[in-house]
Amino acid sequence: MNIKNELAKLLPTNLQSLITETNDKSKGDYCVPCFSLAKEYRKSPVVIAEELSKTITGEIIEKVEAVNGYLNFFINKNAIAESVIDDFNKNGTNMFKGNVGKDKVVCIDYSSVNLAKYMHIGHLCTTIIGESLARILEASGYKVVRINYVGDFGTPFGKMICGYKLWGSKEDVEKRGVDAIQDYYVEFCKHEDDETYAQMARDTFTKLENNDPELTEIYNWFISISIDETKRLCSILGANFDDWRGEHYYSQFVPDMVDELRKANLLKTGEQGAQIVDLGDLGVSVILKNDGSSLYATRDLCTACKRYDEYKFDKCLYVTDISQKLHFAQFFKILDLLNKPFANNLYHVAYGRLSLPEGKISSRKGKQALLKDILNEAITKANEVIKDRDIQNPEQVAKVVGIGATVYSVLKKDKLKDSVYDINSALNFEGDTSPYMQYTYARCCSILRKCPINQNIKVDYSYLTTNEAYDILKLINNFNETVSQALNSYEPSIISKKVLELCKLINIYYHKEKVITDNETETQSKLQLINIAKETIKFGLNLICIDTVEQM
Ligand code: ARG
Repeated sequence: MNIKNELAKLLPTNLQSLITETNDKSKGDYCVPCFSLAKEYRKSPVVIAEELSKTITGEIIEKVEAVNGYLNFFINKNAIAESVIDDFNKNGTNMFKGNVGKDKVVCIDYSSVNLAKYMHIGHLCTTIIGESLARILEASGYKVVRINYVGDFGTPFGKMICGYKLWGSKEDVEKRGVDAIQDYYVEFCKHEDDETYAQMARDTFTKLENNDPELTEIYNWFISISIDETKRLCSILGANFDDWRGEHYYSQFVPDMVDELRKANLLKTGEQGAQIVDLGDLGVSVILKNDGSSLYATRDLCTACKRYDEYKFDKCLYVTDISQKLHFAQFFKILDLLNKPFANNLYHVAYGRLSLPEGKISSRKGKQALLKDILNEAITKANEVIKDRDIQNPEQVAKVVGIGATVYSVLKKDKLKDSVYDINSALNFEGDTSPYMQYTYARCCSILRKCPINQNIKVDYSYLTTNEAYDILKLINNFNETVSQALNSYEPSIISKKVLELCKLINIYYHKEKVITDNETETQSKLQLINIAKETIKFGLNLICIDTVEQM
């Protein structure tokens, strides 16, 4: 139920959009100023408010007071409790879902790892933000296509293969997998200033582009090793993709794209003989280098078109860091100039930088914060934190707590804000942390284990009308709106903040009220509140890619 809308229905039209929630609940839950009616009614706002307060009634209103030209509404908390619990018992957490996306398809391009390199701390954000948005979109009724548009094209692979040929062996790759091929690449890069090596890498890449069978076999082998590792890491974070085709696959469509741009008179020859599109304020986008090779942008143009042909998406989102802002603005604009019908349905979802407390990560100096190390460390540290607790399945709990802490470090704040990833404070059981929320959930589970819900006992909603209970129920009542706000601004942290607030409210509630009492009706009524709060936490945490355990 939308309380504001319900109130609005009881008010004169002019006042309907003026309802606001009050800060001081002793003066009512909502208030409305009557000043805008003075002219039409030819009365003072004070008198108007007095008169209206005597006539307005409704099931959700307990009392109306007129104060200095304002109407103050006290909500009937009994009615809200009944409505929320009734809805939940009928629909479960579907009560939080929407249907704006019914029959619509959204493609999300996220994670989109460059396969020549290890996944590192930077990929945490794109993978987690993208996956959370995918879940939020699904909860809003969209069909979502999850795409990991891998970077599997270009000279890095020439270098990697050269490194393998110089220093590697089949056995080594079979034994050490992704670590072996990474080492070849890194080792080769140390020599790349030497022209002999640089030429070797270029030649190898050219041969690869011309489908040299031996090189193609090595290339495919390395790619599959790399993709397997990427799949493993992404799935630890809860992200499983539908489509893994990357830049290499789409590069076959480059010639057609170049033709299309030429026919549309968009292509010009730039200073050094490159083929460019001049986008005025948005600068120049290079489509082909002077040696005729394509660029990242060229391939993105092809990919967007092919994706549309295949998925007929209503929207396509690209989740990358803010540094790629111009890249996306440029190629979206080119598609617009080509009159593509989907050009205005492409969105760049940008986020800020995540760094480690020690300072910037540098991949060149070999001091890289690798994703696999970050995830391992999170689980190891979570293990230390929970080791003295008496719980079943400590390994499972450590994994859920550790990964949850990492995920929440990314999703707790506005996505565009820069932040520092500090696993030690993220694992705190108090404060704005994932373990705090997971623990609150587990505590609800424990109460319900101790004293299960008995559906045969009729709930007496009057036990759920204290301010503390009302705050919880109101938040749950509005949680579907929270989900749609997160959707509209592509901002998972809106959900994070609400779930955190809910957990705080539940802890306040425990503090103030005894849940399990001698009165069975009272206990059962309160357990309904605990149960729905627990399910809301779980639903909300799932939207932000955090798992829960029933005991911790
Ligand atoms: N592989 C790119 C990178 O690591 C990100 C790709 C994002 N998606 C896209 N369609 N451009 O920077």
